[in-house]
Amino acid sequence: MRSRFLALALVIPAAGVFLAGSADAATTLGASAAATGRYFGTAVAAYKLSDSTYANILSTEFNSVTPENEMKWDATEPSQGTFSFGSADQIVNLAKNQGKKVRGHALAWHQQQPSWAQNLSGTALRNAMVNHVTQVATHYKGQIDSWDVVNEAFADGGGGGRRDSNLQRTGNDWIEVAFRTARAADPAAKLCYNDYNTDGQNAKSNAVYAMVQDFKARGVPIDCVGFQSHFNAQSPLPADYQANLQRFADLGVDVQITELDIEGSGTAQASSFAAVVRACLAVTRCNGITVWGIRDSDSWRASGTPLLFDGSGNKKAAYTATLDALNGGTTTPTTPPPTTTPPPTGAGCTTSITLNQWNGGFVATVRVTAGSSAIRGWTATVTLPSGAAVTNTWNATRSGSAFTNVSYNGSVGAGGSTEFGFQGTGTGPSTSTCAAQS
Ligand code: G3I
Repeated sequence: MRSRFLALALVIPAAGVFLAGSADAATTLGASAAATGRYFGTAVAAYKLSDSTYANILSTEFNSVTPENEMKWDATEPSQGTFSFGSADQIVNLAKNQGKKVRGHALAWHQQQPSWAQNLSGTALRNAMVNHVTQVATHYKGQIDSWDVVNEAFADGGGGGRRDSNLQRTGNDWIEVAFRTARAADPAAKLCYNDYNTDGQNAKSNAVYAMVQDFKARGVPIDCVGFQSHFNAQSPLPADYQANLQRFADLGVDVQITELDIEGSGTAQASSFAAVVRACLAVTRCNGITVWGIRDSDSWRASGTPLLFDGSGNKKAAYTATLDALNGGTTTPTTPPPTTTPPPTGAGCTTSITLNQWNGGFVATVRVTAGSSAIRGWTATVTLPSGAAVTNTWNATRSGSAFTNVSYNGSVGAGGSTEFGFQGTGTGPSTSTCAAQS
């Protein structure tokens, strides 16, 4: 673990970031991240800057900002060729005064387009996009650490293809054209591709991975990939999060966690935030983390209380766990190799567990594999170490330590498999048994 002294010493060059007289710099998110060479940022809404609770937390805790809506196409070019930078400038100026980095978000996106752009197509839309990217990136030239040049251009689901949109219909090369245009306008900014549901390895992230690989091979300028990391029970922190960040980094791009929020509360939420921080710290090319808002009440999904400060601006358990993890925490995450079970020989089913364990919590992913006959239902019984508690489960229903299929994943063909998962506190399981209904 780094010493407190070292953390302080490393932070001093960026001292302008912190308010004079603020407490020990390593006790803020930004200072602790800076001690590892990273940033810790938040999405900011310009209209909230006059709220003193909001503004105080912003100035004290964060050393990077992302305008939540103010740099989007509808905000910056409300009528074609007429640019409006007032709200975004307000955020950029505040960042400049407080020594914070700025993530620009987002130059080209199928959402939040002004109505005039929504009504364009073909060459007219392509030209409008190129002009938009040029004008906005030029306006902020030299002031942006990283730009989300293209946002959310890949489809959800298993297809692994591009999302249909008016921009996509201008031709498959629209993404690389946007990147080349941004590079020409602001050569110093890092240029990122940003998306959601790409946080673990899946068909969508594989498609983004293939695009980045192709861009690197052909010299299309791309410097970073943003992983939005909007998590909840339906879309939990994947067990292979760190491995997924690392495989992108291994392509020769930086990786950034760009819109982090995790629905939930208490220890489970805190553990997930800490796990995200540890994953970023474990990946050398992970530049920093941005949470998507300051207080729960500032969130685009406020009812899920997904942020680090409560509605009154008090620090939550998730804040403390995040800060602790940024400061090196008490342990490093361990991802032991999956326990392997012999390939099925008879009927019935077998299980294997992949565990993402960190200090105080875990995510277990369990693969259920049918034997030589198809099965119509299954129950996996895991051995939970003493003190372990399950906090949420997906793709199965739980009764104690027994996890039974849900309606859509009970039938598994001979030799086939399905997965379920659960999150918990304490130490995760490494063994389980399987019973099948044939
Ligand atoms: O400013 C108007 C206000 O004048 C009006 O009265 C009000 C009525 O609905 O709307 C206000 O604008 C809203 C804006 O947020 C500011 O609050 C828009 O309707 C609303 O659509 C917009 O939502 C934003 C959303 O992107 C739009 O897609 C969220 O704030 C913003 O957090 C969210 O951020 C996105 C990222 O850009 C990309 N990744 C996903 C992420 C979450 O959806």
